[in-house]
Amino acid sequence: MRTSGLLRTKAINADHGACDIALKRVLGPVDLTLLGIGAIIGAGIFVLTGVAAATQAIFVLTGVAAATQAGPAIILSYLVAGTACAFSALAYAELAAAIGGCGSAYGYSYAGLGEIIAWIIGWDLILEYGVATSAVAIGWSGYMSNALAAAGLALPDALQKGPWEGGLINLPAALIVLTLALLLSVGVRESVRVNGVMVFIKLSAIAVFIAVAVFHVELANWSPFMPFGWEGVMGGAALIFFAYIGFDAVSTAAEEARNPQRDLPIGILVSLAVCTLIYILVAGLLTGVVAYPSLNVGSPVADVMLRLGYPWAAGVIAAGAIAGLTTVMLVLYYGLTRVFLAMSRDGLLPPAFARLNPRTATPVRVILAAGVAMASIAGFTPIGTVAELVNIGTLAAFFLVCLGVVFLRCTHPDLPRPFRTPFSPLIPLLGAACCLYLAAQLPAMTWLRFGSWLALGLVIYFAYSRRHSTLATASA
Ligand code: ALA
Repeated sequence: MRTSGLLRTKAINADHGACDIALKRVLGPVDLTLLGIGAIIGAGIFVLTGVAAATQAIFVLTGVAAATQAGPAIILSYLVAGTACAFSALAYAELAAAIGGCGSAYGYSYAGLGEIIAWIIGWDLILEYGVATSAVAIGWSGYMSNALAAAGLALPDALQKGPWEGGLINLPAALIVLTLALLLSVGVRESVRVNGVMVFIKLSAIAVFIAVAVFHVELANWSPFMPFGWEGVMGGAALIFFAYIGFDAVSTAAEEARNPQRDLPIGILVSLAVCTLIYILVAGLLTGVVAYPSLNVGSPVADVMLRLGYPWAAGVIAAGAIAGLTTVMLVLYYGLTRVFLAMSRDGLLPPAFARLNPRTATPVRVILAAGVAMASIAGFTPIGTVAELVNIGTLAAFFLVCLGVVFLRCTHPDLPRPFRTPFSPLIPLLGAACCLYLAAQLPAMTWLRFGSWLALGLVIYFAYSRRHSTLATASA
C-alpha cells in the first residue's frame, strides 16, 4: 500500500469506507451466470450479426456502429472476439476472486496499479456502462414501437424520435431506463428475479430460431466462406466484440454474492462460454440459411424467419429481442451503479452517492441520478451515433485487467488466489495483445472521442478527486 502520489494504492481487501450499511449478499452461482447471460446476449446477436456479415458501410443500429464485410466468416469473427474475451474473462475471474469489491476493474487497479490508473478505469467503466445502456435503450425503443404499432397502439412519431431526428423525445427509450431505475432501487434480489425471467424468454427465442433454421441450411450459402479475407474477419471481430460485452459486469456483484471467491469465476466464465456457443451457432445458421448480402437489415434473426415463411417464429424472436435488450440494460446499469458507488466510497466522486438506502440496501441515490441522466441522454440525444465508444472503453478496461494480473503476480506473489488464470503470464499477455489489436481496428474518430472523454476525466480528477480521495484525507 502506498499513500501518496498519483500512484498511491489502496490495501488489497480494504474495508469499504465509512458505510454503515452493507450491500446484501444474496446472489448464488446461478444468479451470477444469469446476470452474465443477461448482459451479454442482446443487440449484438439480434442486430449486429447481419450487419457485420453483410456490409462495409458504418450503420447505426440499436445504437451501435457496425462496419466490415466478413461474409459467412462472421463465424470466425465471433471466434476471434470470443477468444480475446475468454483471455480477459480468465483475468477478471482471478482478480474478482482475489481482490473482490463492487468496483470491479476500478477496484483491482486501485489495489494493484495506483489511484490515477484506477480513476481512468473507473471513468472508462462509467462510459462503457452509461453509453451502452442509453444506446441500447434507443434500440429497445425501436423494437417496442414496432410491437406497439403491430398491436394497433402506434405512438405518434414525435414521441418516438429525439429532437435530432425532428421529433420531441424518444419516450419509450427514456421510460424504459426510468423503469429499470425503479426496479434496481427496489432491491438486487428483485432485479435478479426479473433478469432470470427475461433471460429465459430470450434463450427460448434463440432456441426457436435454431430449431427452425437448422432444417433450412444450404451449403452453397457458405461459399465463398471468406469473401473479404482476414481483413474482413478481423474488422468483423472488432465490431462483433460488442456482442460479448457484459460478462465483466458480473464482477461488480462481488459484494452481493454469497460466496464471491467461488461463484464470481463461475458466473463470468460459464456465461461467456454459453454465449460464445450460442453466437457461433446462430451466426453459422444465419449465413447458412440465406445469402449473406441479404442480411443487411436491422433485425436479421427475425427477418430470416419471415423469409423462411415462419411469421410466428419471427414474432417470438421479436419478443426475445425486447427481453434481451431489457436484460442488457438492466445488468449494465446495475454495473454502472456499483462502480459509481465504489468510487464515491473512495472519495473520488462525491460521498453523497456512497449512501445505501437502509430499507432496500441499494445505492438509491446513484441509481436515480444515473437513471435520470441516462433517460435524458436516450430521450434527447443521438447517443447511438457514438455507441462505438462502448467497444473501445471496454477494450481499455480488459487490457488493464489483463496487465493487472501479470503485475500483481509479481508484486503480490503470495496473495491468496482462489482462482488462478492458467498459463500466466502467457494468457493475460495474449489477452492484453488481443484487446490492443481489436482496439486498433476501430476508426480514428472513435479513438479521438475516447481521448476526449479521458481528458475530461483527468480534469475532474485533478480538480476534485485527487484532493477528496480518502487516501489523501487519511494521510492529511
Ligand atoms: N453484449 C451486449 C449486447 O450485445 C452489450 O447488446
